[in-house]
Amino acid sequence: MNPNKTFKSLRSLHLSLRFVVPLAVALALLAYTVVPLVDKLTLKWFARDMDIRSQLISSTLQEPLATLVVDKERIKISKLLQKATQDERLLALGVCGNDHALLYKTAAFPKEISCKPTAEEQKEKNHLIRLSQGPVHLSRTSLQVEDGVIGSLILVHDMSFVERRSADTRKYVIILFVVLGVVISLITVFVAHLSWRGWMEGVRAMMRGEGILRPFSQPANAELQPLVGEMRSLLRNLETERRHADDMTTTWNPAALRALLNKQLTGDQVLVVSNREPYIHVKTDQGIVVHRPASGLVTAVEPVMRACSGTWIAHGSGSADQETVDRHDRVGVPPQKPEYNLRRIWLTEEEEQGYYYGFANEGFWPLCHNAHVRPIFRSSDWQQYQKINQRFADAVVKEARTDDPVVLVQDYHFALLPKMIRERLPKATIITFWHIPWPNPESFGICPWREELLQGMLGSTILGFHTPFHCKNFLETVDRYLETRIEHESSTIFHGGQLTMVENYPISIQWPIEQQGTLPPVKQTRTEILTEMGLPADHLLGIGVDRMDYTKGILERFTAVERMLEQHPELVGRFSFIQIAAPSRSALEEYHAFEIRVHALAQRINQRFEQAIILKAEHHDAEQINRYYRASNVCMVTSLHDGMNLVAKEFVAARDDERGVLVLSQFTGAANELHEALIVNPYHVEQTADALYQGLTMPEYEQQERMRSMRALVQDFNVYRWAGRMLLDAARVRQREKLAARIGKMA
Ligand code: F6P
Repeated sequence: MNPNKTFKSLRSLHLSLRFVVPLAVALALLAYTVVPLVDKLTLKWFARDMDIRSQLISSTLQEPLATLVVDKERIKISKLLQKATQDERLLALGVCGNDHALLYKTAAFPKEISCKPTAEEQKEKNHLIRLSQGPVHLSRTSLQVEDGVIGSLILVHDMSFVERRSADTRKYVIILFVVLGVVISLITVFVAHLSWRGWMEGVRAMMRGEGILRPFSQPANAELQPLVGEMRSLLRNLETERRHADDMTTTWNPAALRALLNKQLTGDQVLVVSNREPYIHVKTDQGIVVHRPASGLVTAVEPVMRACSGTWIAHGSGSADQETVDRHDRVGVPPQKPEYNLRRIWLTEEEEQGYYYGFANEGFWPLCHNAHVRPIFRSSDWQQYQKINQRFADAVVKEARTDDPVVLVQDYHFALLPKMIRERLPKATIITFWHIPWPNPESFGICPWREELLQGMLGSTILGFHTPFHCKNFLETVDRYLETRIEHESSTIFHGGQLTMVENYPISIQWPIEQQGTLPPVKQTRTEILTEMGLPADHLLGIGVDRMDYTKGILERFTAVERMLEQHPELVGRFSFIQIAAPSRSALEEYHAFEIRVHALAQRINQRFEQAIILKAEHHDAEQINRYYRASNVCMVTSLHDGMNLVAKEFVAARDDERGVLVLSQFTGAANELHEALIVNPYHVEQTADALYQGLTMPEYEQQERMRSMRALVQDFNVYRWAGRMLLDAARVRQREKLAARIGKMA
């Protein structure tokens, strides 16, 4: 026997009983009060009829009968009485003398009736009494002649017909009430069923986080609205409080993240998808070496993955990648001490050209960054983008051990992926994080495939951006180009039967940094670096670390350095700005041209101010970069537009001496958090130059105060909190969905 079915039948039985039982009780009460009342009334009506009838017969018989009695005409009296009783209702007649003797009577005159009226009969002339033969109506009238009363006439009417009629009436009343009851019950149960379904729908919608919004064609059940509204606000309050509490009380570190996974997600499998892989195997003259890419995404997601284990699916782009995987294209990483699996996806040159260089980096990248570079959209790139997204979706399905894994989709390379995964794994929890800004609707509108991209992203359970502003831009874009239902209060989008929560999760870095505890003191590092560069011990240093990308404001930064030296000639020869610029996307014309411009500007400035710019346009590993952070007086982050910018946070994390100044572009997500940095508009050359100078000359106590505050923030809002908040939200959505599914089965 199917337990679900049994449960369903029990529930409908219970539902029906809840309405039928009270109705049955009401019916019984009606039967016990109404039926006797009807009986009583009919009897009363018939008795009154009999009274009138008796009076009529009496007055008709009065005169002839009185005369015959006086004349003692026995036979005639008998005949007269006999004739009168031919009326079927008149059962018997009797004539009494004044001495209460029964003088004449018809044959059926009941023995129990005597001429002497009982005390009760004396009060009223007409009576209803029950005899052995049944109920009768008894009427006594005086027989009068001119001289006075000579006796009385007793009329006995058969009243058994009243009982018969009463029984009939009772039967019809009961039938009427039963029919009415059944009809009312059916209507009530039907209405109750509809209400129950409506209520369940409402609760399910709430569980899905849809609030109480219904499709426009389906108005909400008015009488349930207050209840559902209250429940909704209660759930929201609880959720906000719980979320706040989670955020504030938990110290976020790898252990906390692991505990969250085990407790809230009951150890569900975590799959990460990104284009860039965290470890690249490269062939060199010294054999195969492992590189870590210059990628904010990798910096953030790698520590999370180490905490969660699971599988990271990414493009295998290294020259020795194929040689280092197993037959399932997997390799355990980190290579020295594997903690999770890296599953590599292979792309042909043509595919990489269309999907990565073309659509993602010539189209999407400039589309999302306000850096005044025009996006290029080609149909051939779009086709590759679709094809490669599908390939990654297939890999996710293949790697999934269950039908409901937690999939973390990273960045603009995979806008179509969430929907593709959702189609194959409907129960998966898909968290998409967008590492770059989201433009306003007008800017996004120039993309020829805007609807498809938005629909693809809305396959996500949770869609994360760095800032509330990017979330707002996204909601407005969806509102502009898709038919959806957006609930701004809860920042959710309902589209094609799928609910997506759009939330801001400011990304961060690992805390403490990997090298913590193994680093020489800042002073020592500074001396070493200056020595390596052949610079004097009191030389001032600035540092910039970026990929060679036109969005990073490297040219603006150099111009500010030049301007600062123009304004403060005393610093010429006493200050150098080190720019680490990791080669990036150099196969693209725009990037290639940018690199040439960066080199040319550095060269031109250096011709004016010797060693003002030290350009290191090559890959540096995290350890090397950390040394530069620690050795520098000022770090400059002057992006023209940036999702978050983790360099700003890395610099802060590196300065355990609580010294050093951060100059930070107002167009980065980091500027929302690191308020103690010197915030600048990188397009404003003088302002940026002033900030650089202010940083180089800032008193130590002020440096310390600012740095201490920023370090506290980065420590607290580290990458584990970033991932933890998303996973917590995912866990809540999963619980809600499971609950909604259970309620769905019940309804
Ligand atoms: O900023 C977006 C982003 O994906 C970053 O996460 C990362 O730092 C960078 O781009 C890497 O770019 P690519 O993978 O193209 O080298």
